[in-house]
Amino acid sequence: MKAKLIAKIETREAVIGVIGLGYVGLPLAREFLKKNFTVLGFDVDEDKVVKISSGESYIKHIGADFLKKYVTELGTFKATHDFSRLRDVDFIIICVPTPLDDHYNPDLSYVLDSTRVIAEYLHRGQVVVLESTTYPGTTEAEMLPILESSGLKAGEDFYLGYSPEREDPGNKEFATGNIPKVVSAVTGNGLEVLSRLYSQIVPVVPVSSPRVAEACKILENTYRAVNIALVNELKMIFDRMGIDIWEVIEAAKTKPFGFQPFYPGPGLGGHCIPIDPFYLTWKAKEYDVHTHFIELAGEINNTMPYYVIEKVMKALNANKQSMVDADILVIGVAYKPDVDDTRESPALKVMDLLIKEGARVAYYDPHIPVMPKTRRYDFKLRSVPLKQIDEDHYDAAVIVTDHSDIDYRQVLAKAKIVIDTRNVLQHMGIKSDKVRKA
Ligand SMILES: NC(=O)c1ccc[n+]([C@@H]2O[C@H](COP(=O)([O-])OP(=O)(O)OC[C@H]3O[C@@H](n4cnc5c(N)ncnc54)[C@H](O)[C@@H]3O)[C@@H](O)[C@H]2O)c1
Repeated sequence: MKAKLIAKIETREAVIGVIGLGYVGLPLAREFLKKNFTVLGFDVDEDKVVKISSGESYIKHIGADFLKKYVTELGTFKATHDFSRLRDVDFIIICVPTPLDDHYNPDLSYVLDSTRVIAEYLHRGQVVVLESTTYPGTTEAEMLPILESSGLKAGEDFYLGYSPEREDPGNKEFATGNIPKVVSAVTGNGLEVLSRLYSQIVPVVPVSSPRVAEACKILENTYRAVNIALVNELKMIFDRMGIDIWEVIEAAKTKPFGFQPFYPGPGLGGHCIPIDPFYLTWKAKEYDVHTHFIELAGEINNTMPYYVIEKVMKALNANKQSMVDADILVIGVAYKPDVDDTRESPALKVMDLLIKEGARVAYYDPHIPVMPKTRRYDFKLRSVPLKQIDEDHYDAAVIVTDHSDIDYRQVLAKAKIVIDTRNVLQHMGIKSDKVRKA
């Protein structure tokens, strides 16, 4: 089985199945297509399947060009919601969401649903890989028994592995194709096959078990969450002391060793850093251990939107205005610069708090023309046409996300004061006594 799969990889006969065609699955499919594999994408979202089939991309930073080439011209990429077609693929790579529920407990339902569907169609000679972020033990303790309930045995009839995704949407230097990939499998023969597959598209880093690979992903994201919390805390302390954290970081990062800069902000966003560490928090309880660092970081990062609101109130006060009835423009609602994704964006919390304090809130984000409804928020707002707004129309503007294609001079013109949570105005050399940092 191993030799046959390796031969199929080398000859490009191997068909790659990708389950979940989102921010991770779609770029991954593109890498395999670029290396002349045939890819069959599976998604429960029929809209995505229709869009791919008609060569239309639904993720801004992933252009439609590759779809035109591989869907329309070459015909090597197809998308479907017919999961019985899992029978037709050699490799099944799972890239479905792994969110938290309202009580910060892992919601593995998407992974487990996918695993059950795979078990239904699993046949000898197939390889299953999980890429979704999760707690150590998921692949072996949760997925393996479901797959083996098919009567097939891992290492003998099929291979099972885990390879965490390190996608950083919008990053112009690193994308799926040049980020090394940690690869693991529940059996040694499976690891050889998986390493061979992924090495066709990226440099691979094999590790001894899925638990190590799962823990590695959690370490990477916890490292960021904790360090961001640290600078957020220092920002609040230094602010009281009249010290500008941004200037401090610029100075500190001139140290050529032992220091990596992290930057403060209005709170964490995205599908990874605010969420993944809590997968470990939940699992650690099973071992009578508390994840102090993770919880403390979460506590600090979660207070940042409240800190921003306090800064807005103070700035309005200084202008002899109250938050009640103030017209406030939020600049940037995506969770990070130059992406069209609002998941877990701190802007949502900031807007919610502003509204609860009695302000009228509008937003401007060239990447998010209409604010999507989320599980928690439904603002029913559209991005305002900034150019057409009168000068000093807003009582305050709050910069939450520093997209590179925003005209910040225009932002400054349209509001009486601007609260900058990203230090973007200083970065751009824009000086004004309207500006307050938060
Ligand atoms: N977005 C990132 O930057 C990033 C980076 C690294 C890791 N990850 C991890 O990768 C995983 C996927 O994240 P994402 O950002 O791509 O999510 P996403 O929401 O963009 O995409 C997930 C896709 O899976 C589909 N889906 C849901 N349930 C399904 C099912 N049962 N069968 C088939 N398709 C299903 C959804 O319709 C959606 O298209 C998560 O575990 C996430 O933590 C994400």
